[in-house]
Amino acid sequence: MALAGSAIGLGNIWRFPYMVGEYGGAAFIVVYIVATALVSLPVFVAEVMIGRRSGRNARQALAVLAPGKPFWNALGFLPVLIPLLIASYYSVIGGWSVEYFLDACSMKFVTTPPEEVGGLFGSFITSAWAPVVTHLVFLFLSVAIVAIGVQKGIEKFSKVSIPVLFVLIIVIIFYALSLPGSGEGVRYLLQPDFSEVTPRTFAYAMGQSFYSLSLGMGIIITYGSYMKKSESIFASSTATAVSDLSFALLAGLAIMPAVFAAGIEPGAGPGLIFQSIPYTFCKMSAESPFLGTLVSAAFFLTIIVAAMTSCISLIEVGTAYLTERFGLRRPAAAFLLFFICGGIGVLCSLSFGPLAGFTVFGKNLFDLFDWFASNILLLLMALLSVIFVGFVMKKEDVRDEFTNGGTLVRSSKVFGIFYFLIKWVAPVALVLIFISNFIL
Ligand code: PHE
Repeated sequence: MALAGSAIGLGNIWRFPYMVGEYGGAAFIVVYIVATALVSLPVFVAEVMIGRRSGRNARQALAVLAPGKPFWNALGFLPVLIPLLIASYYSVIGGWSVEYFLDACSMKFVTTPPEEVGGLFGSFITSAWAPVVTHLVFLFLSVAIVAIGVQKGIEKFSKVSIPVLFVLIIVIIFYALSLPGSGEGVRYLLQPDFSEVTPRTFAYAMGQSFYSLSLGMGIIITYGSYMKKSESIFASSTATAVSDLSFALLAGLAIMPAVFAAGIEPGAGPGLIFQSIPYTFCKMSAESPFLGTLVSAAFFLTIIVAAMTSCISLIEVGTAYLTERFGLRRPAAAFLLFFICGGIGVLCSLSFGPLAGFTVFGKNLFDLFDWFASNILLLLMALLSVIFVGFVMKKEDVRDEFTNGGTLVRSSKVFGIFYFLIKWVAPVALVLIFISNFIL
């Protein structure tokens, strides 16, 4: 559940539907599924394996598995720094959801005319104070759960929140499908148009799948280090990938019909869930203020919960490192990270308002971090993980870890395929995608 909690997040609700919208509807989904099965899943397995085999945090895992190899030891810093960077801007979006949840509860969607609700987003994120405060509140709550501990905090929270998420999203789908004109949205999502598939589709589908499974960030290594030796890495990894994909599809089904019913452009970008969806909520509230308030509050609560389990996993990477390496107490480590990520996050938040003039390569800080982390660092780290498992670890050790010493029948059967995917297919695909980021 904790693995699923990390994977299921804003990537599924915020990024996936707009990616589908922008890059070819169902054709994108087909490419996405193939990319997940052939590349992301093997990378996922490789990362869990590094974590469980070493039993260490992301910083020290590679060093423990390859003693006396300074290159791999030095690399360990990467998976500790990447999550901090991502947590900083990720919690800003978490903060936006907190704001929208509060708006829903205070019946703002009942009192605002539908035509004006889209504009609220712009004025909210460009203001100085409100988004900074909600960002810090969101981050504080995530850090508090990490501080409580892995089993009592993270696992407990995930065990409750992940099933709740599925229920909430299904409730919203029922509502979305009952809207007049929603059929168009379902068709848009489920009818493939392969003429839309270009090399770019592959690069973006791959990138999205990586982001969605929280790969290349040390998270899966860290969570893998907590996994029992008796558990099947193959089964847990597949279960995570399947729940992540199902949730992404469900989120698409909850969002696209409403987008079409409201007559909104489906490729509207990240603003889709904060601008287009509230339009539907306003319409709904005009007919029934009670239902409108209830569904909109449920929707933004879903986003908060999904984002929080992911943010928790980001914070856990650094926390594990600080406690295992420096012997800090868990709460001290977690709250230290609160100050670091909170501080950087404030700058990201302000980059839509007062700091909007400060840009690098034409991107504000928030976009710069997102781009740098998801298109560059994450691919690099994932590439290193598969190379490590494929070429540095001994094949016998990899088999031993994958099959739990030969005791898992199903894992033993698929080992050959996975080993091939990890060693050859994933590295080649990753290099191609990395290059394509610069030329497409
Ligand atoms: N996988 C999470 C999602 O889909 C996002 C995430 C990204 C989590 C990066 C951790 C790190 O939203």
